[in-house]
Amino acid sequence: MFQTTGALDKPLQPKEIKHSSFAQDIIKGLSATHKYLDAKYFYDTKGDALFQKIMQCNEYYLTDCEMEILANKKEQIVTAILAHFQSFDLIELGAGDATKSIHLLSELLQQGADYTYYPIDISHNVIAHLEEKLPSLLPNIKMHGLHGEYATMLDNPTLSNDRPKVILFLGANIGNSTVEEALAFCRNLKKNLRKGDLLLIGFDLRKDPHIILNAYNDSKGYTKAFNLNLLQRINHELNANFQINNFEHYPIYNPQTGSCKSYLISKVRQEVILKEIDFTILLDAHEAIFMEISQKYSPEEILRLAKQSGFKETNQFLDQNKWFQDSLWMVE
Ligand code: AVI
Repeated sequence: MFQTTGALDKPLQPKEIKHSSFAQDIIKGLSATHKYLDAKYFYDTKGDALFQKIMQCNEYYLTDCEMEILANKKEQIVTAILAHFQSFDLIELGAGDATKSIHLLSELLQQGADYTYYPIDISHNVIAHLEEKLPSLLPNIKMHGLHGEYATMLDNPTLSNDRPKVILFLGANIGNSTVEEALAFCRNLKKNLRKGDLLLIGFDLRKDPHIILNAYNDSKGYTKAFNLNLLQRINHELNANFQINNFEHYPIYNPQTGSCKSYLISKVRQEVILKEIDFTILLDAHEAIFMEISQKYSPEEILRLAKQSGFKETNQFLDQNKWFQDSLWMVE
């Protein structure tokens, strides 16, 4: 059906040993029987801008729902945190532009918490921007931005001290993992924390399937462009020749499993060459490249995830529609 050169099942050639992890991941995904690309690579400069557009789309309800929770329930959330401790490190995984967490940051200062804010983000730009913007908005904030992949950043020496930890993992980012991966992630997070530490984690809830599917198929085409942008990124960074018009954006939602999955479908049989890494793929007509999962949860599934990963859910904060949930978990 397809033919690859430079696939991982062949001995590594000297040129391949030098490949960046980006190139290695692309080779791995495009060599698989069911091709896939890793959604973490969506977020280059153009991808960041497209994601901002998505978040402003009418159909993409997630951001508004979580914003509503953080704006309207910030007192309750902060009171729930401060019931455990007054002095702590506040670590945000995938901080982005902090437009949501700023509600908590300011309420924490208001309620007299003694905390240092550590935003962690994969993007240098994001951290530089936060370090410039936040002190002007919140003059008393103590902060220290950290740049890197948040999955591994809790090992950072800056964070290895005796202070209690409060982790923020907002935006339904947990949904970009399968349920099994999410469990492994939460278990690993717990290993890096101590008894009594807290996690505020955002989940997109199961709801009318049409509402969910439309959020990943917006009428302005930003989500489509967001997915196609990864092919463009491969074109630029690996000197490839993906013809963008030869692909269709195809999201599907399975209301039984709660997973929304996005694919790019090859409209024609086509060969794509990634010159930089000397790698060729052949795509059949109608062949799919799996791009991203956005897993939806029920409140019961969230409870189960907390329990199975060694946390106890102490509070639930929902928007009016009950479409989104920020859960406060404590390490048991
Ligand atoms: C970042 N993440 C929670 C978004 C989501 O809803 O899965 C990424 C996204 N992909 C397409 N639209 C938004």
